[in-house]
Amino acid sequence: MRVLGIETSCDETGVALVDGERGLLAHALHSQVDLHEAYGGVVPELASRDHVRRLLPLTRKVLAEAGCTLADLDAIAVTEGPGLAGALLVGTSVAHALGYALRIPVIPIHHLEGHLLSPLISDPGLAFPFVALLVSGGHSQLMRVAGVGDYELLGDTLDDAAGEAFDKTAKLLGLGYPGGPAVAKAALDGKAGRFRLPRPMIASDDLEMSFSGLKTAVLTLVRAQLSLASALAPATVADIAAEFQEAVTDVLSAKSIGALDRTGLDTLVVAGGVGANLRLREKLDAAVRRRGARVVYPPVALCTDNGAMIAWAGALRLREGRVPAVASDGGASGFGVRPRWPLDSLRRP
Ligand code: KG4
Ligand code: ZN
Repeated sequence: MRVLGIETSCDETGVALVDGERGLLAHALHSQVDLHEAYGGVVPELASRDHVRRLLPLTRKVLAEAGCTLADLDAIAVTEGPGLAGALLVGTSVAHALGYALRIPVIPIHHLEGHLLSPLISDPGLAFPFVALLVSGGHSQLMRVAGVGDYELLGDTLDDAAGEAFDKTAKLLGLGYPGGPAVAKAALDGKAGRFRLPRPMIASDDLEMSFSGLKTAVLTLVRAQLSLASALAPATVADIAAEFQEAVTDVLSAKSIGALDRTGLDTLVVAGGVGANLRLREKLDAAVRRRGARVVYPPVALCTDNGAMIAWAGALRLREGRVPAVASDGGASGFGVRPRWPLDSLRRP
């Protein structure tokens, strides 16, 4: 059973081929970072146009690497949402056109479900239920994952997502886009503690999070520094980056352990772009070890957006028969995208 996965929800074109028995056969990714860098963030129209340019060549590349042809495909999994409407439409249009031409099913995948299940790619023996920390540019959530399609929201951010806070802080510090890796790199040369930033809601008696106050605190700090000098000294940038990273990872680590405590589960799975943060991993490793639990990460390359997680989620849904009834008729009966799509609205079919 071979499933082609297509991801075009934001600024990465991802394509992958998964075999139900043999696992990931091939995957390819094109990042639009260079395209959007000059604007300091993703420009939706440019993103859509670039997906149009990249998707078919990447699909050919993945098939060639796996030694397969279109005729070998059994299904196509595609991100239907959430994300940028125009960008999502590129992926869904190609998926449904292929599905129609090949007479195979198209499986619409929730982007966050892709992230949630991505640790299973490298650890297929991972058993449900587990707690998932989902930290991306748009989300900071703790979920109880009981099975494919069975997700319970335990805690969420009340405002900005953790990745968004990284991105905005990077902008304030003049570090460019995407912010997470840039802040993490700058923090390597910095010292946390020279400046003090808040750990929002770390002591709240729940699993809710909030990161917009932290970003405002960085803004206040940067303004105060700029009133003393005309530009931020590299050491100051590094020290603010280090303190910011400590603050975010302290909160994420405390809330993750809180989620294990509340659910009584002993496996934590980390997914989403911020899951690539090495300081976060250090803290989670230590905290989870102290508790006698374990933490599972997808390989760093699969933390950020990619086609493999979409193909994988599609293969799991296909295997478990949890495939929504979608006609592969090239859209004659209609297909759409869901730019806003709450994950906990997914129900077991
Ligand atoms: O999951 P993802 O690739 O896309 C979304 O679905 O949002 O996550 C992207 C987010 C961005 O905000 C980016 O700055 C952040 O993940 N990120 C990181 C790191 N790598 C990516 N944040 C902190 N440290 C990193 N190493
Ligand atoms: Zn993502």
